[in-house]
Amino acid sequence: MQFQWYPGHMTKAKRQMQEDIKLIDLIIELVDARIPFSSRNPDIDELGKNKARLILMNKADLADAKKTEIWSEYFQSKGYFVVCIDARSKNGMKAIQNTIMEACKEKIERDRRRGIKNRPVRAMVVGIPNVGKSTFINTFAGKACTKTGNKPGVTKGKQWIRLNKNVELLDTPGILWPKFEDQMVGLRLALIGSIKDEILNTDELALELLKILLSEYAGVLKNRYDVEETDDAVKMLELIADKRNCRSKGNELDYSKAAALVIDEFRSGKTGRFTIEMPSEGQGV
Ligand code: G4P
Repeated sequence: MQFQWYPGHMTKAKRQMQEDIKLIDLIIELVDARIPFSSRNPDIDELGKNKARLILMNKADLADAKKTEIWSEYFQSKGYFVVCIDARSKNGMKAIQNTIMEACKEKIERDRRRGIKNRPVRAMVVGIPNVGKSTFINTFAGKACTKTGNKPGVTKGKQWIRLNKNVELLDTPGILWPKFEDQMVGLRLALIGSIKDEILNTDELALELLKILLSEYAGVLKNRYDVEETDDAVKMLELIADKRNCRSKGNELDYSKAAALVIDEFRSGKTGRFTIEMPSEGQGV
Protein backbone atom coordinates (compact mmCIF):
# COMPACT_ATOMS: atom_id res chain seq x y z
CA MET A 1 0.00 0.00 0.00
CA GLN A 2 1.40 3.42 -0.90
CA PHE A 3 0.96 6.39 1.41
CA GLN A 4 1.38 9.92 0.32
CA TRP A 5 1.47 13.15 2.17
CA TYR A 6 1.42 16.61 0.67
CA PRO A 7 2.77 19.01 3.25
CA GLY A 8 1.83 22.17 1.34
CA HIS A 9 2.48 24.69 4.07
CA MET A 10 5.25 22.73 5.76
CA THR A 11 8.02 25.20 4.99
CA LYS A 12 6.04 28.10 6.40
CA ALA A 13 5.20 26.15 9.53
CA LYS A 14 8.82 25.19 9.99
CA ARG A 15 9.96 28.79 9.69
CA GLN A 16 7.33 29.85 12.20
CA MET A 17 8.49 27.18 14.57
CA GLN A 18 12.10 28.30 14.27
CA GLU A 19 10.99 31.79 15.31
CA ASP A 20 8.85 30.54 18.16
CA ILE A 21 11.56 28.27 19.51
CA LYS A 22 13.79 31.30 20.03
CA LEU A 23 11.28 32.55 22.60
CA ILE A 24 11.05 29.49 24.75
CA ASP A 25 12.97 27.44 27.30
CA LEU A 26 11.19 24.12 26.94
CA ILE A 27 9.74 22.10 24.08
CA ILE A 28 6.77 19.95 25.08
CA GLU A 29 6.54 17.34 22.35
CA LEU A 30 3.45 15.17 22.10
CA VAL A 31 3.67 11.70 20.61
CA ASP A 32 1.00 9.04 20.28
CA ALA A 33 1.77 6.34 22.84
CA ARG A 34 0.57 3.64 20.39
CA ILE A 35 3.23 4.58 17.84
CA PRO A 36 5.81 6.74 19.61
CA PHE A 37 8.29 6.51 16.76
CA SER A 38 6.01 6.98 13.76
CA SER A 39 4.13 9.83 15.38
CA ARG A 40 7.16 12.00 15.83
CA ASN A 41 9.40 13.90 13.49
CA PRO A 42 13.01 13.80 14.73
CA ASP A 43 13.70 17.11 12.90
CA ILE A 44 12.51 18.71 16.11
CA ASP A 45 15.74 17.53 17.73
CA GLU A 46 17.73 19.76 15.39
CA LEU A 47 15.24 22.63 15.62
CA GLY A 48 15.18 22.45 19.40
CA LYS A 49 18.78 21.76 20.24
CA ASN A 50 19.88 23.59 23.40
CA LYS A 51 16.31 23.63 24.68
CA ALA A 52 14.98 21.54 27.53
CA ARG A 53 12.88 18.67 26.20
CA LEU A 54 9.78 16.98 27.53
CA ILE A 55 8.03 14.18 25.66
CA LEU A 56 4.40 13.56 26.53
CA MET A 57 3.24 10.11 25.52
CA ASN A 58 -0.39 10.99 24.91
CA LYS A 59 -3.39 8.70 24.38
CA ALA A 60 -1.81 6.34 26.89
CA ASP A 61 -5.38 5.16 27.58
CA LEU A 62 -5.31 3.46 24.16
CA ALA A 63 -1.79 2.06 24.41
CA ASP A 64 -0.37 -1.09 25.92
CA ALA A 65 0.71 -0.03 29.44
CA LYS A 66 3.72 -2.35 29.60
CA LYS A 67 5.04 -1.15 26.27
CA THR A 68 4.41 2.47 27.24
CA GLU A 69 6.73 1.87 30.16
CA ILE A 70 9.42 0.47 27.85
CA TRP A 71 9.11 3.47 25.52
CA SER A 72 9.22 5.85 28.44
CA GLU A 73 12.48 4.33 29.68
CA TYR A 74 13.84 4.42 26.16
CA PHE A 75 13.16 8.15 25.70
CA GLN A 76 14.58 8.89 29.15
CA SER A 77 17.74 7.01 28.24
CA LYS A 78 18.06 9.44 25.30
CA GLY A 79 17.91 12.43 27.61
CA TYR A 80 14.26 13.45 27.34
CA PHE A 81 11.98 13.98 30.30
CA VAL A 82 8.86 11.87 29.80
CA VAL A 83 5.33 11.86 31.16
CA CYS A 84 2.58 9.47 30.01
CA ILE A 85 -0.80 11.12 29.79
CA ASP A 86 -4.35 10.87 28.59
CA ALA A 87 -5.06 14.48 27.75
CA ARG A 88 -8.75 13.82 27.19
CA SER A 89 -9.47 12.48 30.65
CA LYS A 90 -6.68 14.45 32.34
CA ASN A 91 -4.85 11.36 33.59
CA GLY A 92 -1.19 11.95 34.27
CA MET A 93 -1.53 15.71 34.03
CA LYS A 94 -0.52 16.35 37.63
CA ALA A 95 3.00 15.05 37.11
CA ILE A 96 3.64 17.51 34.31
CA GLN A 97 4.11 20.63 36.38
CA ASN A 98 6.86 19.10 38.49
CA THR A 99 8.53 17.55 35.48
CA ILE A 100 8.59 20.92 33.71
CA MET A 101 10.42 22.45 36.67
CA GLU A 102 12.80 19.50 36.77
CA ALA A 103 13.48 19.74 33.03
CA CYS A 104 14.21 23.47 33.34
CA LYS A 105 16.30 23.24 36.47
CA GLU A 106 19.41 24.55 34.72
CA LYS A 107 17.61 27.59 33.36
CA ILE A 108 16.07 28.37 36.73
CA GLU A 109 19.46 28.03 38.39
CA ARG A 110 21.07 30.25 35.73
CA ASP A 111 18.42 32.93 36.30
CA ARG A 112 18.98 32.73 40.03
CA ARG A 113 22.73 33.21 39.65
CA ARG A 114 22.10 36.29 37.51
CA GLY A 115 19.77 37.70 40.11
CA ILE A 116 16.66 37.17 37.96
CA LYS A 117 13.82 36.11 40.19
CA ASN A 118 10.46 34.63 39.30
CA ARG A 119 10.88 34.61 35.55
CA PRO A 120 8.46 31.93 34.41
CA VAL A 121 9.56 29.01 32.30
CA ARG A 122 8.30 29.48 28.75
CA ALA A 123 7.17 26.45 26.83
CA MET A 124 5.58 25.51 23.54
CA VAL A 125 3.70 22.42 22.51
CA VAL A 126 4.67 20.65 19.29
CA GLY A 127 3.59 17.48 17.52
CA ILE A 128 2.21 16.01 14.32
CA PRO A 129 -1.50 16.56 13.50
CA ASN A 130 -4.06 14.68 15.58
CA VAL A 131 -1.66 13.73 18.34
CA GLY A 132 -3.72 15.72 20.87
CA LYS A 133 -1.98 19.12 21.02
CA SER A 134 -5.15 21.23 21.29
CA THR A 135 -6.75 18.84 23.73
CA PHE A 136 -3.64 18.97 25.86
CA ILE A 137 -3.39 22.76 25.83
CA ASN A 138 -7.07 23.08 26.77
CA THR A 139 -6.84 20.51 29.51
CA PHE A 140 -3.53 21.63 30.89
CA ALA A 141 -4.27 25.31 30.76
CA GLY A 142 -7.81 24.85 32.01
CA LYS A 143 -10.14 27.78 32.29
CA ALA A 144 -8.55 29.49 35.22
CA CYS A 145 -5.46 30.74 33.46
CA THR A 146 -5.07 34.12 31.89
CA LYS A 147 -3.74 35.00 28.49
CA THR A 148 -0.91 37.46 28.23
CA GLY A 149 0.60 38.99 25.16
CA ASN A 150 2.63 41.77 23.59
CA LYS A 151 5.28 41.79 26.24
CA PRO A 152 8.54 43.60 25.72
CA GLY A 153 10.93 41.43 23.79
CA VAL A 154 8.16 39.18 22.54
CA THR A 155 7.00 39.19 18.94
CA LYS A 156 3.95 41.35 18.71
CA GLY A 157 0.75 39.41 18.82
CA LYS A 158 2.17 36.32 20.49
CA GLN A 159 -0.25 34.97 23.00
CA TRP A 160 1.01 33.33 26.12
CA ILE A 161 -1.10 31.34 28.48
CA ARG A 162 0.02 31.89 32.03
CA LEU A 163 -0.50 28.57 33.76
CA ASN A 164 0.76 29.74 37.14
CA LYS A 165 3.56 31.90 38.44
CA ASN A 166 6.14 29.41 37.18
CA VAL A 167 5.04 28.48 33.66
CA GLU A 168 3.82 30.20 30.52
CA LEU A 169 2.72 28.36 27.41
CA LEU A 170 2.60 29.64 23.85
CA ASP A 171 -1.07 29.33 22.96
CA THR A 172 -0.59 28.01 19.42
CA PRO A 173 1.09 24.64 19.07
CA GLY A 174 3.82 23.97 16.53
CA ILE A 175 2.84 21.49 13.85
CA LEU A 176 5.36 18.88 12.82
CA TRP A 177 4.98 16.53 9.88
CA PRO A 178 5.38 12.80 10.06
CA LYS A 179 8.49 11.44 8.43
CA PHE A 180 7.50 9.10 5.65
CA GLU A 181 10.81 7.50 4.87
CA ASP A 182 9.51 4.08 5.74
CA GLN A 183 6.21 2.65 4.49
CA MET A 184 5.61 1.17 7.92
CA VAL A 185 5.37 4.69 9.31
CA GLY A 186 2.56 5.45 6.85
CA LEU A 187 0.80 2.21 7.68
CA ARG A 188 0.93 2.84 11.41
CA LEU A 189 -0.25 6.43 11.10
CA ALA A 190 -3.11 5.18 8.94
CA LEU A 191 -4.02 2.55 11.50
CA ILE A 192 -4.42 5.07 14.30
CA GLY A 193 -6.42 7.37 12.03
CA SER A 194 -3.89 10.10 11.39
CA ILE A 195 -4.14 9.93 7.62
CA LYS A 196 -7.39 10.82 5.93
CA ASP A 197 -9.45 7.72 5.31
CA GLU A 198 -10.49 8.90 1.84
CA ILE A 199 -6.99 8.28 0.52
CA LEU A 200 -6.75 4.84 2.04
CA ASN A 201 -7.75 1.41 0.99
CA THR A 202 -9.65 0.38 4.08
CA ASP A 203 -9.80 -3.29 3.16
CA GLU A 204 -6.02 -3.55 2.87
CA LEU A 205 -5.56 -1.54 6.03
CA ALA A 206 -7.84 -3.87 7.97
CA LEU A 207 -5.91 -6.89 6.71
CA GLU A 208 -2.63 -5.31 7.83
CA LEU A 209 -4.18 -4.61 11.22
CA LEU A 210 -5.42 -8.18 11.57
CA LYS A 211 -1.94 -9.48 10.73
CA ILE A 212 -0.38 -7.28 13.42
CA LEU A 213 -2.93 -8.28 16.04
CA LEU A 214 -2.62 -11.97 15.20
CA SER A 215 1.14 -11.92 15.55
CA GLU A 216 1.56 -9.46 18.43
CA TYR A 217 -1.61 -9.89 20.43
CA ALA A 218 -2.75 -13.49 20.13
CA GLY A 219 -6.19 -14.12 21.57
CA VAL A 220 -7.43 -10.55 21.26
CA LEU A 221 -9.52 -11.12 18.13
CA LYS A 222 -10.98 -14.28 19.57
CA ASN A 223 -12.01 -12.32 22.64
CA ARG A 224 -13.48 -9.40 20.80
CA TYR A 225 -15.25 -11.18 17.96
CA ASP A 226 -15.75 -14.65 19.32
CA VAL A 227 -14.02 -16.24 16.33
CA GLU A 228 -11.27 -18.84 16.10
CA GLU A 229 -7.92 -17.30 15.20
CA THR A 230 -6.08 -18.45 12.09
CA ASP A 231 -2.92 -17.01 10.52
CA ASP A 232 -4.88 -16.08 7.42
CA ALA A 233 -5.97 -12.43 7.70
CA VAL A 234 -8.50 -12.72 4.87
CA LYS A 235 -10.11 -15.68 6.58
CA MET A 236 -10.21 -13.68 9.83
CA LEU A 237 -11.98 -10.83 8.09
CA GLU A 238 -14.47 -13.29 6.66
CA LEU A 239 -15.16 -14.81 10.09
CA ILE A 240 -15.61 -11.38 11.63
CA ALA A 241 -17.93 -10.28 8.79
CA ASP A 242 -20.03 -13.35 9.39
CA LYS A 243 -20.08 -13.00 13.17
CA ARG A 244 -21.01 -9.32 13.04
CA ASN A 245 -23.48 -9.91 10.23
CA CYS A 246 -21.78 -7.56 7.79
CA ARG A 247 -23.77 -8.37 4.65
CA SER A 248 -24.71 -6.66 1.42
CA LYS A 249 -28.26 -6.46 0.13
CA GLY A 250 -27.92 -9.79 -1.62
CA ASN A 251 -26.96 -11.30 1.75
CA GLU A 252 -23.35 -11.75 0.64
CA LEU A 253 -20.60 -11.16 3.20
CA ASP A 254 -19.53 -7.53 3.00
CA TYR A 255 -15.78 -7.44 3.58
CA SER A 256 -15.54 -3.67 3.34
CA LYS A 257 -18.10 -3.20 6.06
CA ALA A 258 -16.21 -5.66 8.26
CA ALA A 259 -12.92 -3.91 7.47
CA ALA A 260 -14.32 -0.52 8.52
CA LEU A 261 -15.71 -2.06 11.69
CA VAL A 262 -12.41 -3.71 12.64
CA ILE A 263 -10.49 -0.47 12.11
CA ASP A 264 -13.04 1.62 13.94
CA GLU A 265 -13.10 -0.64 16.97
CA PHE A 266 -9.31 -0.72 17.04
CA ARG A 267 -8.98 3.07 16.89
CA SER A 268 -11.56 3.71 19.56
CA GLY A 269 -9.97 1.24 21.97
CA LYS A 270 -12.91 -1.19 21.96
CA THR A 271 -10.69 -4.03 20.80
CA GLY A 272 -8.17 -3.32 23.54
CA ARG A 273 -5.06 -1.30 24.25
CA PHE A 274 -2.24 -1.71 21.77
CA THR A 275 1.21 -0.39 20.99
CA ILE A 276 2.25 -1.39 17.52
CA GLU A 277 5.91 -0.50 17.41
CA MET A 278 8.84 -0.86 19.77
CA PRO A 279 12.21 0.85 20.10
CA SER A 280 13.92 -2.52 19.64
CA GLU A 281 12.65 -2.75 16.06
CA GLY A 282 15.58 -0.61 15.01
CA GLN A 283 13.37 2.39 14.76
CA GLY A 284 14.84 4.27 17.63
CA VAL A 285 15.12 8.01 17.60
P1 G4P B 1 -4.11 18.07 17.47
O1 G4P B 1 -4.39 19.42 18.09
O2 G4P B 1 -2.73 17.58 17.79
O3 G4P B 1 -4.36 18.01 16.00
O4 G4P B 1 -5.09 16.99 18.15
P2 G4P B 1 -6.48 17.23 18.92
O5 G4P B 1 -6.24 17.85 20.24
O6 G4P B 1 -7.44 17.88 18.00
O7 G4P B 1 -6.91 15.71 19.17
C1 G4P B 1 -7.17 14.82 18.11
C2 G4P B 1 -8.15 13.75 18.58
O8 G4P B 1 -7.52 12.95 19.61
C3 G4P B 1 -9.43 14.29 19.21
O9 G4P B 1 -10.45 13.35 18.89
C4 G4P B 1 -9.14 14.22 20.68
O10 G4P B 1 -10.32 14.13 21.48
C5 G4P B 1 -8.38 12.92 20.75
N1 G4P B 1 -7.50 12.84 21.94
C6 G4P B 1 -6.63 13.75 22.40
N2 G4P B 1 -5.98 13.31 23.49
C7 G4P B 1 -6.46 12.06 23.73
C8 G4P B 1 -6.15 11.07 24.71
O11 G4P B 1 -5.29 11.22 25.57
N3 G4P B 1 -6.84 9.89 24.61
C9 G4P B 1 -7.77 9.66 23.65
N4 G4P B 1 -8.38 8.48 23.65
N5 G4P B 1 -8.06 10.58 22.71
C10 G4P B 1 -7.43 11.76 22.75
P3 G4P B 1 -11.50 13.61 17.77
O12 G4P B 1 -12.13 12.31 17.49
O13 G4P B 1 -10.88 14.36 16.65
O14 G4P B 1 -12.50 14.56 18.43
P4 G4P B 1 -13.44 14.27 19.70
O15 G4P B 1 -13.61 12.79 19.79
O16 G4P B 1 -12.75 14.84 20.89
O17 G4P B 1 -14.67 15.00 19.34
